[in-house]
Amino acid sequence: MGVKSMKIIRSPKEMAEFAKELKANSQKITLVPTMGALHEGHLSLVKKAKEEGGICVVSIFVNPTQFGPNEDFAKYPRQLESDFKACENEGADVVFAPSAEDIYAPDFSTYVNEETISANLCGKSRPKHFRGVTTVLTILFNIVKPDVAIFGEKDAQQVSVVKRMVRDLFMDTEIKTVPIYREESGLAMSSRNRYMDPLERKGAARIYKALCEGKRISDSGCTNVDRIKAAVINSVSNAKTRVIYVEIVDSETSLPISEVVPGKSRISMAVWYGQIRLIDNILI
Ligand code: PAF
Repeated sequence: MGVKSMKIIRSPKEMAEFAKELKANSQKITLVPTMGALHEGHLSLVKKAKEEGGICVVSIFVNPTQFGPNEDFAKYPRQLESDFKACENEGADVVFAPSAEDIYAPDFSTYVNEETISANLCGKSRPKHFRGVTTVLTILFNIVKPDVAIFGEKDAQQVSVVKRMVRDLFMDTEIKTVPIYREESGLAMSSRNRYMDPLERKGAARIYKALCEGKRISDSGCTNVDRIKAAVINSVSNAKTRVIYVEIVDSETSLPISEVVPGKSRISMAVWYGQIRLIDNILI
């Protein structure tokens, strides 16, 4: 059984029933979870999902529980109609776009919390962020029943958290990833890039340049994390850019390491670029 034209499903119950029907017909389901405002980076995830064969479901849900009280939930870009078109052009079979009310009951009180990886890096400055991510992904996985779920490596810590959750809770979904999709300047694609004007976007490319400087030092044989971190911080810092963290981590777990293991380490960073919080990373 295939899906002829792209289906748009709003109701979790309808999505769950459709997924059940697909499973009964031995169809493989691949989920691309997104918060919408889709860009080329998201579309590369959809492409990868299509390569999996079977049915490709893109979820579009701006998840309130992963935003802190002073974060950009209210102003996060929402553009469902153009997202639907982009998914259709990319050959997605289903877009699942529920409302917050349909996902979270008024007396919702059950959260999924990964406690180790989530406490580091972005978790330090966004204390409940990953709890929101793991909770909504558990909900989405329960509804969509994906065999495979695809994530972008820009959110490398999120990938590590999700892989740990899937392992710890014996979830029957395989997590696959797609490399970071960059603008021509090197700036990692993000829905939040649209908060910047073209000049700012160009300026924000200094984040990737700083990561490349860290990689250059590592490639030259240096395994000293403090030296690499200092070089990245020095390279990225200017009047507009305030470092939130630069860490050298294990590329699989995203946990900080004391010495670089070439090919198995990552430089991860988050900065305030003006009013915008940006993250990026590079394998070393
Ligand atoms: O990476 C994202 O866009 C979100 O964190 C996700 C995985 C869709 C969960 O809301």
